[in-house]
Amino acid sequence: MRATIIGVGSCVPEKIVTNDDLAKSIETSDEWIRTRTGIKERRVADDGTSTSDLAIVAAEKALKSAKLSPEDLDLIIVGTTSPDYLFPSVACLLQNKLEAKKAAAFDVSAACSGFNYALTVASSFIENGTHKNILVVGADTLTKYLNWKDRGTCILFGDGAGAVVLTASDDGSGILSNWLKAEGRLGDRLIMPGGGSRDPEQKNTRFITMDGKEVFKFAVRVLEESIYESLKAANLSVKDIDLLIPHQANDRIINHVIKKMGLPKEKVYVNLQKYGNTSAASIPLALDEAVSDGKINKGNIVVLAGFGAGLTAGANVIKWR
Ligand code: COA
Repeated sequence: MRATIIGVGSCVPEKIVTNDDLAKSIETSDEWIRTRTGIKERRVADDGTSTSDLAIVAAEKALKSAKLSPEDLDLIIVGTTSPDYLFPSVACLLQNKLEAKKAAAFDVSAACSGFNYALTVASSFIENGTHKNILVVGADTLTKYLNWKDRGTCILFGDGAGAVVLTASDDGSGILSNWLKAEGRLGDRLIMPGGGSRDPEQKNTRFITMDGKEVFKFAVRVLEESIYESLKAANLSVKDIDLLIPHQANDRIINHVIKKMGLPKEKVYVNLQKYGNTSAASIPLALDEAVSDGKINKGNIVVLAGFGAGLTAGANVIKWR
């Protein structure tokens, strides 16, 4: 038995913030942001919208496209690092809102690799036979944790949610391999220092702080490693890839890696120009758009490869149903 994807969905907030909008309040320019990152605009959740509000819409769309009802779910896993509350989890909020009465629910915290981590957990649960239908969501509203005066970080991130529904299948399709990695020694390179149990009163900053150059170096190294290692685990190679969906952080990171691997641009899905880095939502949001755009067909080999705070990385190789 393998876990196969039978439904996808996504949701972004309506409000668009362009590079030119940012240039009105910080010393930057559309040209600088586009050439260094590829990002043109991002979506920003308003004050009344939290991560679960985006996640629920993505989840409902994924369930609809899977033609399943919430009652069919036996597990909900959400990858997020911007939950509505420290507890209950976003997954439990979804379980309640969806009325998925039979589903257990928990969050996975692996920042921008959160969707890869959550998908890996879900596929293991299905392969070992304990669960049949699992909703996996990647959702974040990191713009709420940005210092809008810090031009090294505020230009990069946006908000969103993406979801897939997995089911147990023996038709040969599904998740062929998973690969995960953590380098906790580099944790302080991308960190939200305030607000956790070390600093519950947020004496330190509640904003994302980042060493952009160090994270860039890590990303380039592990994105390549994750693609190779996940393919190796599936007995496949780079030439077998029909579509790579990398974490949508920066097109320079993506272009550097695919050039080195000899993967043509046509085989790589990129939508970061519209959304920026939406953290755990980035891969399922791109996956949903790639499916809608007709870029993924039955039997295709799709690789999802992410990296993020932790520092973490992960990749999943899928044979599309
Ligand atoms: N607009 C204009 N200038 C900016 C700027 C901005 N938004 N941000 C930084 N600069 C300036 C710097 O102050 C610096 O000026 P100086 O040379 O006078 O000191 C110059 O541009 C170069 O800055 P640097 O930090 O070296 O730029 P960079 O090429 O490393 O690009 C990032 C910065 C953040 C775009 C890049 O490091 C990056 O993308 N890193 C990875 C981040 C990431 O993906 N994080 C999430 C991972 S999940």
